Amino acid sequence: MYDIVKIRGDFPILSRQVNGKPLVYLDNGASAQKPQVVIDAMNQAYSMEYANVHRGLHYLSNLATDKYESTRGKIARFLNAPSENEIVFTTGTTEGINLISYAWAAPRFEAGDEIVLSVMEHHANIVPWHFLRERLGVVLKWVEVDANGDLDPQAVLNAITPRTKLIAISHMSNVLGTIVDVKAVCRGAQAMGVPVLVDGSQAAVHMPVDVQAIGCDFYAITGHKLYGPSGSGAIFIKADRLAEMRPFIGGGDMIREVTRDSVTYADAPMKFEAGTPGIVQQIGMGVALDYMTGLGMANIAAHERSLRDYARAKLAGLNWLTVQGTSETKAAIFSFTLQGQAHAHDISTVLDKRGIAVRAGTHCAMPLMQHFGLGATCRASFGLYNTHAEVDALISALELCHELFG
Ligand code: ALA
Repeated sequence: MYDIVKIRGDFPILSRQVNGKPLVYLDNGASAQKPQVVIDAMNQAYSMEYANVHRGLHYLSNLATDKYESTRGKIARFLNAPSENEIVFTTGTTEGINLISYAWAAPRFEAGDEIVLSVMEHHANIVPWHFLRERLGVVLKWVEVDANGDLDPQAVLNAITPRTKLIAISHMSNVLGTIVDVKAVCRGAQAMGVPVLVDGSQAAVHMPVDVQAIGCDFYAITGHKLYGPSGSGAIFIKADRLAEMRPFIGGGDMIREVTRDSVTYADAPMKFEAGTPGIVQQIGMGVALDYMTGLGMANIAAHERSLRDYARAKLAGLNWLTVQGTSETKAAIFSFTLQGQAHAHDISTVLDKRGIAVRAGTHCAMPLMQHFGLGATCRASFGLYNTHAEVDALISALELCHELFG
């Protein structure tokens, strides 16, 4: 049984008040709160088990290395990667995608080569490709979403030409909650020999992910949205692609031998992890994944589907409010405007006075906002600990906004 009272008790911050009201945290798309087990594990790692990893032969270094490295296996299992050697630690999705851009794409792409993107991408899956456009003359090809915010996999495949070197798409929109059929994209792309990078930053939080079933070449995730610490994350890189990558950041821990005249590199994944890493962050991420798998990803997804259906029905009853992204299968992420009555920032300020945290603005997705002709939206994004009563709190605060601004 999904015991929501017990689950909420696992997150200390959820018992606090904000502006004199119980906190209603609906900004999980930006970053999720942390359960006590993650906080305790990081506290323990710093207070009793800390040393640098991979370097020492002493007890604490070995202990820290074991705990840190155990997260790699946990991530591999979480994503159903064939091997933990295909998991490269990063500080988050942004670094993961930048790594692919610098270490895999840049040495292989030439002027006129094409990268296919959807207009629904987060800036983290746009700007690294703009760098290649600016530096190499690579062409970005944009695929539109429909009025519901759905992305047709066939439209993505139709954008492929003989010059296409990569498809880079999100598995779930951080703005609309739309879930993309990345498996269909990968199946078609593979048949045409085009690698696919999937931004899994949002999707991995809300649904089970199986990179082998999807068939992608790269799958990036971030720890802070997965109820783990900021500064933790990873990217799955298929072995064939790993073999094609050049090292990007140079330094300690990624080498085999360094002389005055030469350098040889460690095997992947270490080859791409120079310097002292986020030791305690990755340990915390491993515990966060244990927490999620302990609840069961299918159970989390079912709970959030129920929140989605409830919120969707309630929001549909507000005829002065427009929800962007009406896909049937979307996640419990709702971007909305008050039909010209008030700016998104004003709405979020009123909600904040009622203890309700949402995000307002362009959500690091300006091309999508341009596509819908919007300056800004408010976004309520739900997580595994949210309740139906919190949907009610949101609705009543929005009714207050309508009274104030309508
Ligand atoms: N990517 C995060 C969001 O969607 C920051 O808010």
